[in-house]
Amino acid sequence: MVTLTAAEQAMLDGEDGDAARESMEILVALARIYGADRMIPVKSAQVSGVSYKTIGDAGLEYLRGLAQKGAKACIPAFLNPAGMDISQWKEMRIPADFAKKQIAILDAYSRMGIMKTCTCAPYFIGIRPKRGEHVAWAESSAVAFANSVLGARTNREGGPSALAAAICGVTPHYGLHLEENRVAGFVVDVRCELKSASDFGALGHAVGKLAKNRFPAFTGIKKAGESELQVLGASMAASGSVPLFFVKGITPEYRVPESAEAVVFTEKDLKEAKAGLDSGGKPQLVTLGCPHASLEEIKRIAGLVSTKKPTCEFWVCTARKLKDEAVRLGYAKAIENAGGRIVSDTCMVVCPLESMGYSVTGTASGKAAHYLPSLCRQKVVFGNLEDILYR
Ligand code: F3S
Repeated sequence: MVTLTAAEQAMLDGEDGDAARESMEILVALARIYGADRMIPVKSAQVSGVSYKTIGDAGLEYLRGLAQKGAKACIPAFLNPAGMDISQWKEMRIPADFAKKQIAILDAYSRMGIMKTCTCAPYFIGIRPKRGEHVAWAESSAVAFANSVLGARTNREGGPSALAAAICGVTPHYGLHLEENRVAGFVVDVRCELKSASDFGALGHAVGKLAKNRFPAFTGIKKAGESELQVLGASMAASGSVPLFFVKGITPEYRVPESAEAVVFTEKDLKEAKAGLDSGGKPQLVTLGCPHASLEEIKRIAGLVSTKKPTCEFWVCTARKLKDEAVRLGYAKAIENAGGRIVSDTCMVVCPLESMGYSVTGTASGKAAHYLPSLCRQKVVFGNLEDILYR
């Protein structure tokens, strides 16, 4: 039985308007399904369901309707990637009708006071919840990062529930908001060297498939920065819907009961995981930045391609704010001179890649490799940066 505060009950009774009432109805329904006893305030909401490719006309109409009913975010709320780069969609051959609908979706969110950050890595543009802070984030890799790397508390929200949390400022108190649920279900002892982000991506993709609603804890990983942990989490989220993981000595939390199953991950397993994601051949387009790249990563790519020009077209996907920084610092110029492009507001998976003339795409990301065949009808070339850019 969920107990509401007077203010929450007032919202449910429609005293704050129809949009707040509908949003609170969504949250109360979730609370009942998951057995939450109450709502808890959240400090921020990351809203998914932004690309016209994924939400279509029905999603656009739903958002327009909510905006018309006066829906307004009452906490900091920001968007996941949209279906196109707002400033260069024409050059990127995005169909005009798609662009029109995409702009209408962004307008609806804007009217609701939701920031058009359009990134799956808000933590790289200064939106970094503190350890223990409750938030309502929706994008699977951002959820994994917030819980695991930052130690914040969020369930894996859907687009509507994150939007409802943005409007009401609360979320049901269940799942990963409860300390006792943040415990590993199995331990992966990594007995091989992870030399590149694509190695972390392949490891994550393989481990995600073992998860079956359990959270993994890793031992044996000696070094991993935020970009590696980002890729690891994104891959597990893609292959196994994993919203929380632990890495011994690295992540802020590491809770493993003695009863946890132990699994060994060897060099052979890594090789097999990589081979399983790679269909071979030469890519027409290499897409980097899944999840969206940090400024450090953009700098590294700019340095690499300045010394040796890639053999194919390539994109580096990132947040618009970081693209602007990359322009200012000269990284964007270096990337353009090498035949590449910094793409912001969107990514290789949620843009209509299949309608833009590509059929073979290279990636170093386990998550992109997971989704490109089904969502974008692409043949995937998987490998580390140097491998896929110069194949
Ligand atoms: Fe982000 Fe797109 Fe990858 S939303 S995690 S870059 S599939």
